[in-house]
Amino acid sequence: MIDDLMQKIVALCKRRGFIYPGSEIYGGLSNSWDYGPLGVELKNNIKSLWWKRFVQQRANIVGLDAALIMNPKVWEASGHLANFTDPLIECKKCHFRFRADQMDANSCSNCGEKDSFTESKTFNLMFKTFIGPAEESSNIAYFRPETAQAIFVDFKHVLDTTRIKIPFGIAQIGKAFRNEITPGNFLFRVREFEQMEIEYFFAPPKQDSDWQEAFEIWRKEVLSWIKDDLGLDLSKVSEYEVPEDSRAHYSKKTIDFMFEFPFGIEELYGLAYRGDFDLKSHEDSSGQDLKYRDPESGKEYLPHVIEPSFGVDRSVLAVLVDAYSEKDGKVILKLNPKLAPYKLAVFPLLANKPELVKLAKKIYLDLKENLMVTWDERGNIGGRYATQDEIGTPFCVTVDFQSLEDAAVTVRFRDDGHQERVKVDELEKFLKEKLNGSRNNSKIS
Ligand code: GAP
Repeated sequence: MIDDLMQKIVALCKRRGFIYPGSEIYGGLSNSWDYGPLGVELKNNIKSLWWKRFVQQRANIVGLDAALIMNPKVWEASGHLANFTDPLIECKKCHFRFRADQMDANSCSNCGEKDSFTESKTFNLMFKTFIGPAEESSNIAYFRPETAQAIFVDFKHVLDTTRIKIPFGIAQIGKAFRNEITPGNFLFRVREFEQMEIEYFFAPPKQDSDWQEAFEIWRKEVLSWIKDDLGLDLSKVSEYEVPEDSRAHYSKKTIDFMFEFPFGIEELYGLAYRGDFDLKSHEDSSGQDLKYRDPESGKEYLPHVIEPSFGVDRSVLAVLVDAYSEKDGKVILKLNPKLAPYKLAVFPLLANKPELVKLAKKIYLDLKENLMVTWDERGNIGGRYATQDEIGTPFCVTVDFQSLEDAAVTVRFRDDGHQERVKVDELEKFLKEKLNGSRNNSKIS
């Protein structure tokens, strides 16, 4: 049943152009996925809603888009070269590799052999490459395993070039790479993925309650993003406070936001209090002064940081899992309309009536200026509705013979199938009101 749902989602994603298996014409590349025409819309909608909420609509968070490959000294200073590792063991019989910390039985999950593993060794998850033509150790570089470090490295630049004052945040969306030992579960654990991260800087806390208060504000912000922007069902979301011995090397407190995926309750996002670990390490290693100078008191200090970290691909997967539903054997993807790849589809009732096609085309082209709109004139109306339901299009607009008389069209709503007659002149306003009103409610009515 569980596998069934994941299989259905993977099949739907491929069939309708959300997500394809990577490099498929060459036999594929395991655990690599390509976003197709609808997937890129869904993913971009998530990223732009996030940017709007955390950068555009806030006075004290600014953006950054840094290089993926940084000076390798960054990873020495950040602790990733020494600590960003997983324990790796190998089955002596079939040579299958596992993460030792994720094994829950003494037998190989690949071939069933019992108690026959190599000693555990540490495996660094960073992807290595060489800069320039010579493959020498002095030219080794790494693809970033998190977007966060560039924010610390560029911290002083941002201070010097903006008028931002503590407390403030720097946000970034971009690719990260991890040579995961056990990738899998579709988009859940991949080796190349995107993160949306904020480093939120504040004055060194005088007492624990100072950072705890900031942490609590961010905890609520993350939950509100999940509920109000993604529109996920909060009953599928839980919080897990990571115990000290499992926390990342930089963290003084971490909460993982867990989501009920079909394959289990797993981490969706993380929220960590990183103290001044990163700025201090980079100050020590680079020899550069990275302190913030308080404009009123003139006091200089290294700010502390709270970091909410959001995986883009895990967001896409959670949204698809939450939205997937079936009615009478047909799929309805009940996406938050703000995330839907197409906001509406426009149809002429009959494809062979030029006067209907002409009016429908005009409506389609006019609305396309400001909204993602699709066109369909194949088959019958019922089939077209089903096609749009499957990709989550919240509204379908049909131009019929009456439209030629009363300059109105039929708008059909995805989730309950009800229909309303709307004047062509008022259509854009009507749709925008419905879309804007959908922030706190993923279901449309
Ligand atoms: N800067 C902090 C950081 O990177 P993390 O918990 O290692 O923390 C943050 O990663 C988020 O990035 C995770 O909550 C998840 O959403 C996403 N993520 C991490 N590894 C991933 C992978 N292999 N595949 C897909 N998403 C991943």
